[in-house]
Amino acid sequence: MLTGAGISTDSGIPDYRGPDALQRRGNPISYQDFRRSSAARRRYWARSALGWPHIAAAQPNLAHRIVAELQRQGIFGPVVTQNVDKLHQAAGSNAVIDLHGTLAEAICLTCGALEARSALQRRILEANPDWFTETRAIAPDGDIELHQDYEAAFRAPECLHCGGPLKPNVVLFGENVPRERVDRAFRLLSAAGCLVAVGSSLTVFSGYRFVLEAHERGVPVVILNDGLTRADALCTIKVTGRLSDLLPALQARLGRPLETSTEKPRQTKDTTA
Ligand SMILES: NC(=O)c1ccc[n+]([C@@H]2O[C@H](COP(=O)([O-])OP(=O)(O)OC[C@H]3O[C@@H](n4cnc5c(N)ncnc54)[C@H](O)[C@@H]3O)[C@@H](O)[C@H]2O)c1
Ligand SMILES: [Zn+2]
Repeated sequence: MLTGAGISTDSGIPDYRGPDALQRRGNPISYQDFRRSSAARRRYWARSALGWPHIAAAQPNLAHRIVAELQRQGIFGPVVTQNVDKLHQAAGSNAVIDLHGTLAEAICLTCGALEARSALQRRILEANPDWFTETRAIAPDGDIELHQDYEAAFRAPECLHCGGPLKPNVVLFGENVPRERVDRAFRLLSAAGCLVAVGSSLTVFSGYRFVLEAHERGVPVVILNDGLTRADALCTIKVTGRLSDLLPALQARLGRPLETSTEKPRQTKDTTA
């Protein structure tokens, strides 16, 4: 399976591209800007400090749980996800490659040391005690200029080991996915009988390339997504709809029901579907 932001929207984490568009909304920071500019890093961390509690509180939804259950039942193989929210693991999937890394860690751009985001959040709060109260106060009328004044005073976190700048441990726009991780994902694909792409517009090349490869090798590609994808012309089957409908339907055809399957002993798989 290859999953994208669409599988996490029901957990309250917005995607980048809605049903009607392949075009990106917003303007996420690029890797190049992040490395080059301390102001860009300050801006990232100031906003991330406000957004992190929301991500940290997000819970896996029905689609994540069905994927995990179908993996347990041996119907789905490993998941390669473009998401950075760790919700597959929270739902109980253990064979997961986080292609684009995870927001749950920060990495030092100088020495490579890792720090848990939850611990880092506490340090950010300590270094910026007024940031949360001030931004909350101005948020309702969206006073951008005032916001920017406060942002300029924000203190971005530094590495505990060497004082270097910290980056979220995710692959930013313009940054390459580490080669070893891509190779692992390609190895999984070479062993797969089918590639199921779920909740992704497949616009980002690092996910799209797996569909291309599957297509070139004649491996069937199934796309489940509520909207256009870059690979619609390449796939064997495309099903358009919400994942909260499609995955239960898929499970009803291929697997055992979610409620009973964790309690009952394993039975022989019904292969009539
Ligand atoms: N949850 C996350 O971790 C998260 C969230 C936003 C962006 N990102 C990052 O940004 C990039 C986004 O690319 P992408 O292809 O993963 O996402 P995308 O935003 O480009 O595409 C998401 C697709 O899912 C569809 N969708 C949304 N909710 C759905 C639902 N409930 N049921 C069915 N379809 C639904 C949308 O219509 C859209 O076509 C990725 O590289 C990812 O790393 C991650
Ligand atoms: Zn360091």
